[in-house]
Amino acid sequence: MALFCNFSIFPKPFVPSCSSQKTQFSNQNTKQDSIFRIKGPAALSGHITISGSKNSSLALLAATLCCSGSSLLHNVPNISDIQAMASILSFLGAKVESFDGKMMVNSDGVDKVEVDSEEMKKIRGGFFVIGPLLARFGEVVVALPGGCDIGKRPVDLHLRGLRALGSVVELRQVQDGKVWAHAANGKGLVGGRFRLDYPSVGATATLMMAASMADGITVLSNVAKVMIGGIPTDEPEVVDIAHFLNHSGALIEGAGTGTLVIWGKSQLYGSECVIRPDRIEVGTFMIAAAITRSCISMSPAIPSSVSCLIDKLSEAGCKISQLDQHTLRVSAVPAYVGDDLRGFGIKTSPFPGFPTDLQPQIMALLTTCTGSSLVEESVFDNRMTHARELQKLGARIQVSKSSAIVFGKDEGSSLCGSPVIARDLRGGASLILAGLAAKGTTEIHKIEHIERGYEKIDTKLQILGADIERSTPLPVLV
Ligand code: EPU
Repeated sequence: MALFCNFSIFPKPFVPSCSSQKTQFSNQNTKQDSIFRIKGPAALSGHITISGSKNSSLALLAATLCCSGSSLLHNVPNISDIQAMASILSFLGAKVESFDGKMMVNSDGVDKVEVDSEEMKKIRGGFFVIGPLLARFGEVVVALPGGCDIGKRPVDLHLRGLRALGSVVELRQVQDGKVWAHAANGKGLVGGRFRLDYPSVGATATLMMAASMADGITVLSNVAKVMIGGIPTDEPEVVDIAHFLNHSGALIEGAGTGTLVIWGKSQLYGSECVIRPDRIEVGTFMIAAAITRSCISMSPAIPSSVSCLIDKLSEAGCKISQLDQHTLRVSAVPAYVGDDLRGFGIKTSPFPGFPTDLQPQIMALLTTCTGSSLVEESVFDNRMTHARELQKLGARIQVSKSSAIVFGKDEGSSLCGSPVIARDLRGGASLILAGLAAKGTTEIHKIEHIERGYEKIDTKLQILGADIERSTPLPVLV
């Protein structure tokens, strides 16, 4: 069986036949005040299993709202962002069941067009429901989304695109802001043309879902993708959505080309798909091998989805091999690669450029390399707050707006355990990596940020031999 994007087409609504025991989607037991305590330096070895992609799962869960009947998603990670998305769907009236890493959603019972603000504030992906609800019911009210605090995260492209599909959209500053939208014709969306100023992943997702159910043909240009040397390269999450919708009865052409042509359908039917492995989790573990000068392997992984990182880690001196179609091994063991890894520069950009979601983890690694390295963040305008926490661990980093010079181990950085605070998801991951490399004990607070996007990261690191535990700090006596 092909492992990823393995879609089955159901000419009629998908009828669930899974006999597994159904359970509630369980929490990872993250108490608000739990911490990770890491004793370093760690030497890692062995193999870990990569979970399904957070961002693909969030978008595909929203896309199930477009479909009648049941949709079955395999390989959905058990993380708090997915739990929040599941509660948004349930709040709207969808039936959501989870079992054995799968989620089944039946949205036939959806009877609300206004989303609960509290849930929306928890995650960015919740905003994706605006497209399906508007297309299906002709009206929707959605609070502005939450998500990591990594800069201004406007939704103007989502809203302007929806206007191009025949809706009246208003952003009102009620409390933290809410979007009211309704179809201008009083019925539903109509096909239209829209060019995104910036290839936003989220806006592309919203508009694909909306256009799939609009009346007529929609052309979306400058969507999230890039041509490399004239070859179209797929933005993985966008391609997943296009495949899912197509297998649910939509007709979307051009995924991966920069222009999508979408023939709207009045009815889509639930289908089944396997969520691809999380490329950011793959990248995080690759960097874990590098920062601890260890050798680990991981699967399933799609090497082309992390090609930028493979290039950079190879430039530093790591040896990366593909053991089979879906298994990657990263070695930074000094006996094989030499005593030092060399620093390198990165500038984040939309796929297939260097992923912004790996920038904090790379910054941690660069503190242990030689030389000074330039890190430039060009996707989000406030994604450097982890630098301050890395400094508490002994990193020497100079930040100026969205750039940072990271001084390596021969230029003043020397990681040593300390209490630190995870300020967002990927910044938190960078602190785990730094804690693995640091001498002594690192305590990471606010780990709920990390567990939004990494499934059982502590357990996976323990499997690799790390000394990491989750614990609750003793109350301070006053
Ligand atoms: N932007 C606009 N207007 C819009 C939408 C986006 O100006 O209407 C700008 C943003 O301000 C930002 C840039 O475009 O500067 C990129 O935003 P994009 O829409 O591509 O990102 P997103 O949909 O908000 C998703 C992921 C992020 C990931 C980015 C880039 C989800 C739920 N989130 O965010 O994931 O960093 O794409 O790949 O899919 C993470 O996993 O840690 C994470 C932050």
